[in-house]
Amino acid sequence: MQRNHETGAALAFHNATKYVVVRDEAGEEQLLMGTPPDLENPIWQEDWSLEPFPFKIYETLAPIRLPRAFPPSSLPALEAIARTGAEPIGVIVPDLAALARIGLLANGLLNRQRTSQSGATIEYRTAGGTGARYHLELYFVCADLPDLAAGIYHYAAQDHTLRQLRAGDFRGALVEATGGEPPVAHAPVMLAVTSTFWRNAWRYKGRAYRHTFWDAGTSLSHVLAVAASAGLPTELVLGYADAPVNALLGVDGEREATVALCAIGRMNDSTARTPTVQAQDYPTRMISSREVAFPIIPAMHGASSLASGPEASTWRAEPGRRVPPAPQGTLISLQPLSADQLPPEPIEAIIPRRRSTRHYDTAVEIPFQAFSTLLDRSSRGFAADCLAPDAPPLHDVYLIVNGVEGLAPGVYLHHPRRNAVELFKEGNFRQQAERLAARQGYAADAHVNCYYLTDLSTVLEHYGNRGYRLAQLGCSLSAGKLHMGTHTLGLGAVGSTSLDDEVIAFFSPHAAGKSYMFITVFGKRRRTSRQ
Ligand SMILES: Cc1cc2nc3c(=O)[nH]c(=O)nc-3n(C[C@H](O)[C@H](O)[C@H](O)COP(=O)(O)O)c2cc1C
Repeated sequence: MQRNHETGAALAFHNATKYVVVRDEAGEEQLLMGTPPDLENPIWQEDWSLEPFPFKIYETLAPIRLPRAFPPSSLPALEAIARTGAEPIGVIVPDLAALARIGLLANGLLNRQRTSQSGATIEYRTAGGTGARYHLELYFVCADLPDLAAGIYHYAAQDHTLRQLRAGDFRGALVEATGGEPPVAHAPVMLAVTSTFWRNAWRYKGRAYRHTFWDAGTSLSHVLAVAASAGLPTELVLGYADAPVNALLGVDGEREATVALCAIGRMNDSTARTPTVQAQDYPTRMISSREVAFPIIPAMHGASSLASGPEASTWRAEPGRRVPPAPQGTLISLQPLSADQLPPEPIEAIIPRRRSTRHYDTAVEIPFQAFSTLLDRSSRGFAADCLAPDAPPLHDVYLIVNGVEGLAPGVYLHHPRRNAVELFKEGNFRQQAERLAARQGYAADAHVNCYYLTDLSTVLEHYGNRGYRLAQLGCSLSAGKLHMGTHTLGLGAVGSTSLDDEVIAFFSPHAAGKSYMFITVFGKRRRTSRQ
């Protein structure tokens, strides 16, 4: 089963970017990053004049207008969220409106702004992102679509348009780079997600590389739900040769690099011959007058890169199949809403009102059915080139329950296959929840904290350093589904950062040996003048 034993880079990166709280000489607790004794201040953000501009603007390419109003889809949002992408059958080719919808609802602008400390305007996006330091870009590599000529297009979030980077059908280059992955060969559209690391690292230093996959997974959870609502099949593709994909998009692979691909739609004929890929370097607007290097990012990205299509194909050849933990204690069956009880609103009605909720109403509990529905619908997985369709997720979801009707406050484990939660220990853990979430009070107030923990060493033993991308993305994608889901039920959520090793200690002995990957908290919003 093992094909790539090199895992040292990923483990070293993970250790070097842990958050810890340490007492300084004056006895004050300080949040630091790393593993003792190698600790550093976790936040850079030193020079506000360098605050990166959060858009990629091609200065010389003409915009292609996209529709903003779409006919409503008929699938209830929670049904779209729960889909894995493998469900639709037959030939389904997206049109320009489908690309517009995906671009807007996964990386486009919301109609919400605020002014940053430097006086810059922060324009909020449809998908949340660490620190609102939006660093992702979307590209579509298309066959001839009903109303769009074959080509490679960049989705420009700032004005909701496309820019054509190449004319012609270049999908064959992706088939080659992925080692002939069948859904890629039959996809009329391939979505490529890139990160311009500096746009996040300006604040978060090396931890930005974790955020790359946290934010990409969050955004991809929107892509999958929006595609599902349009009846489009999807498959996430993490096995690809990095350099040719970056060259195809015209990105350098170091400042800006492809971090995930997603096949969208299905057509009968497999891809045509790709024209020769000429080097391309269109001028784009400068995002900072100077950029600061955080070498751990290119080092980790390089260490998790694949060199060729055959290497990509070998990498995914035998997907890992983990045995989820067997319950050892009391199981409580979940009672999710059935398909015909789901709120009817479609996903495109939900996403524009999504936002991070940091104020929770501690005076009320949330219904057990809402809790059950969210766990159920967010945990049904996603189709990916490197995962077996029926395999359990690579992570486990540990819960701190503070306020759910009929459920004793305490610590639980979600068993998605059994549609149940297992009680570990009863008690009020609000104070601990706040501390674990890097001392952010909203975790204490939220009705539920969901911790996504992974046995990282085992995942890496199977998938090598490349598995780090998969491990992070799998967690954030599930959490992104959960976040969207909360808004369908009149609740809210927020992602968070956490104190890595303290989280594991808190959930141990059960979680011993695992790694903290991600957390989302959710619950009933408390109305305030500012959210
Ligand atoms: C992966 C992830 C981690 C986040 N971590 C935190 C956090 O630790 N603290 C916090 O206040 N907000 C956190 N957020 C929320 C972001 O700050 C928020 O998404 C961003 O400011 C945009 O605002 P919006 O989600 O309301 O659109 C996180 C969001 C994501 C997607």
